[in-house]
Amino acid sequence: MVKIAVVGAGILGLSSAVQIQAAVPNARVTVIADKFAKNTTSDGAAGVFRPTLDLIKADPELVRQWSQDGWDFYSSVAKSSDSAEAGIHLISGFQVFNQPRERPIYHDIVYHFRDMTPQELQHIPGNFRYGWFCTTLCIESRWFLPWLMRKFRLNGGQVEHRTLHSLAELADTYDLVVNCSGLRAKTLVNDHKMYPARGQMLRVEAPWQTHFIYDLDSGPYIIPCAGNVVVGGQRQVGNFNPEKDPKDTQNLWEWGTQLSPSLKSAKLLWEWVGLRPHRDPPRVEMELLKLGSRLLKVIHNYGQGANGITLGWGCSKHATRLVLEALSLEKTKSSKL
Ligand SMILES: Cc1cc2nc3c(=O)[nH]c(=O)nc-3n(C[C@H](O)[C@H](O)[C@H](O)COP(=O)(O)OP(=O)(O)OC[C@H]3O[C@@H](n4cnc5c(N)ncnc54)[C@H](O)[C@@H]3O)c2cc1C
Ligand SMILES: *[C@@H]1O[C@H](CO)[C@@H](O)[C@H](O)[C@H]1NC(C)=O
Ligand SMILES: *[C@@H]1O[C@H](CO)[C@@H](O)[C@H](O)[C@H]1NC(C)=O
Repeated sequence: MVKIAVVGAGILGLSSAVQIQAAVPNARVTVIADKFAKNTTSDGAAGVFRPTLDLIKADPELVRQWSQDGWDFYSSVAKSSDSAEAGIHLISGFQVFNQPRERPIYHDIVYHFRDMTPQELQHIPGNFRYGWFCTTLCIESRWFLPWLMRKFRLNGGQVEHRTLHSLAELADTYDLVVNCSGLRAKTLVNDHKMYPARGQMLRVEAPWQTHFIYDLDSGPYIIPCAGNVVVGGQRQVGNFNPEKDPKDTQNLWEWGTQLSPSLKSAKLLWEWVGLRPHRDPPRVEMELLKLGSRLLKVIHNYGQGANGITLGWGCSKHATRLVLEALSLEKTKSSKL
């Protein structure tokens, strides 16, 4: 039996854990984390499938692969009777801007991606010159993480609530470690490439708001989720503040009601702050770590920044391929001996 630890219970950790269970039937997989469900960064994200290359800064071919793999999986869930329980459903809306932009990498992955007509542009306040319309998927972590966790446990997965201070703590117990520690990879073994992009968001009650609207130039967005509407869009690079800031709250109200004046009658339900775990590019790779006399195989899978939900499944599929590679390394080595 192979013993595999997955560090992290956010979307990257849980997506990796269930895919590894399927790919390595003789593995005993343990998820180790100190934050679960509501306490993760993943929980608060709006989760619109919209892979944005300008925010990821990775090889476009790779992003394309991660995106397509993610879309294939998420859309298969959206079509199934699991859709509601997993929190994955279709969503349509507008993205508006004033400077010409290239069509995004996902234009032929999502449904009916097209330029907005002049009439549609006039529908959005602010006299925007350009816009796109599309139908894509919304992956709501609040439902998706618990759904993944149930799948993981049903397949015999183990869960350990624990804070790790060093990799060495795992070297004696596990054959392989998958590192999905998000932003805290920064302090764990000093990955200086990690940085936060802080975002605050409002959840409001506005059942009449059925389309998303993104202002791509200055950032604000409005996204209808199951049961509430997100008003968000701040990207404060380098800001580690986990607390709500009243100035941000006020800005969000101003932005939101400008993009959709009907939100003036919306009721505020709750507010949330998250730090997007950025790395340029995200790290999905294998490392053989020498810890004293032991060699520990580590698969890193973190730093997806503003796209962790969108790319979570695809990156974890990639990480799972690396797990298989790492395990077969061992086999070829021992069969040669
Ligand atoms: C305002 C906002 C809006 C967003 N909107 C979107 C969106 O629309 N679409 C999209 O794709 N993405 C969006 N994101 C980004 C997305 O939320 C993140 O990219 C994603 O959640 C990262 O997931 P993760 O699993 O890497 O990290 P996390 O969810 O932060 O999970 C990290 C896990 O690692 C564990 N961990 C870390 N270090 C240790 C340690 N030392 N010991 C034990 N456990 C440890 C934690 O306990 C936790 O379980 C948004 C983010 C924000 C802030
Ligand atoms: C989140 O953290 C709080 C405070 O540490 C804790 O009481 C709560 O049980 C945690 N929730 C989950 C889902 O882990
Ligand atoms: C995860 O990766 C980061 C960056 O290399 C490192 O600092 C940290 O120790 C790793 N943690 C685990 C548990 O693998």
